[in-house]
Amino acid sequence: MWLLKVLVPLVRLYLCGMKVLLYQLFNRSFPLPVLPKQNGRVAIVTGGTRGMGLETARHLASLGMHVIIAGNETEEGAAAVRKIHEDGCEGKVEFIFVDLTSLKSVQQFAQTFRARGLPLHVLVNNAGTMLVPERQTVDGFEFHFCLNYLSHFLLTNLLLDILKRSGRRGCCSRIVNMSSATHYAGVMDMEDLNRRMCYSSHGAYSQSKLGLVLFTYYLQEQLTAGGFPVTVNAVDPGMVDTALYDNLWTLAQMLKKPVAKTLFRTPAEGASTAVYTAAASEMEGVGGCYLYNGQKTQSSDLSYDSELQAELWKKSCELVGLQEA
Ligand SMILES: NC(=O)c1ccc[n+]([C@@H]2O[C@H](COP(=O)([O-])OP(=O)(O)OC[C@H]3O[C@@H](n4cnc5c(N)ncnc54)[C@H](OP(=O)(O)O)[C@@H]3O)[C@@H](O)[C@H]2O)c1
Ligand SMILES: *[C@@H]1O[C@H](CO)[C@@H](O)[C@H](O)[C@H]1NC(C)=O
Ligand SMILES: *[C@@H]1O[C@H](CO)[C@@H](O)[C@H](O)[C@H]1NC(C)=O
Repeated sequence: MWLLKVLVPLVRLYLCGMKVLLYQLFNRSFPLPVLPKQNGRVAIVTGGTRGMGLETARHLASLGMHVIIAGNETEEGAAAVRKIHEDGCEGKVEFIFVDLTSLKSVQQFAQTFRARGLPLHVLVNNAGTMLVPERQTVDGFEFHFCLNYLSHFLLTNLLLDILKRSGRRGCCSRIVNMSSATHYAGVMDMEDLNRRMCYSSHGAYSQSKLGLVLFTYYLQEQLTAGGFPVTVNAVDPGMVDTALYDNLWTLAQMLKKPVAKTLFRTPAEGASTAVYTAAASEMEGVGGCYLYNGQKTQSSDLSYDSELQAELWKKSCELVGLQEA
């Protein structure tokens, strides 16, 4: 029984990965169209210190955006800001500390941002971790669940009023959630979201990414119903060579290295779907979608389950102490 609960998510996750690699073997990364200038617009990119977050921040800044990199490593943050400025971008870039493994830190970040009195046009929920051994956050949540999903749930909700105010008809504010093909392998264990009963890092990662997609659809429905000029989409960057894979088992690490060289996307290629969703004219007013390689794609059947979406939303509100909207 234990073996099954650990083995099944593992096999499902690796099968997902294999499917993506097969696709990437035969398909090039999509070319970004010319993107409109974004001067005067403000973006927050979580986990913008390295990997795809850094590339997303860099690209948005080059379009003239004021980009706020949110991350938990102050030195890396300062280095990222320096790197982007050295490239001579048009926009302004700065770093604000947030530790997404602490709900209190998320609240503080939202307060700090609010106190600046800035508008907010783009929120990229990018930060994430993969396959860490069983671990709890200060608030007692499972690590993947909190960092990849729940903190971003809270952050989005705390900033939602500013996003709503900053959007206009024909020029919506945009929320972009970094999901992953691994969500296809994900199941939500609503009775045990923190995976206390039987821990599988593979299952926990897939679940956190499925959570993001479920949320994307639910929130878009609410925003549309309320007539708010905010769109929300989930994007899948493909398999990208970043530090995310540092926690793979040793054997998988060894196998990954040669494969990554040939088949994985670069961080800049991986970031392109997020950048496209955040800035392309083609995406104006388009929400509630799952995008892969620049194209709208079906997400898993489970992710369209509206009862599950509502249940997860309600549960998440309880967990972070938000009044249900
Ligand atoms: N790489 C892939 O193949 C792939 C595939 C599908 C989806 N994704 C998703 O894409 C997103 C970006 O991943 P990546 O591949 O670019 O990985 P990465 O290079 O490991 O970047 C992860 C980012 O998350 C930040 N982060 C980690 N812990 C944090 C914390 N406690 N508080 C705040 N920020 C934290 C890191 O910032 P610090 O360095 O400051 O800690 C880093 O900037 C993730 O959500 C990932 O799940 C990746
Ligand atoms: C940032 O968060 C990661 C967990 O994702 C952790 O491993 C790292 O130590 C944290 N950095 C700092 C400076 O606390
Ligand atoms: C992703 O988008 C939804 C909105 O669709 C938002 O509520 C949520 O907080 C964002 N992040 C996560 C982790 O779902």
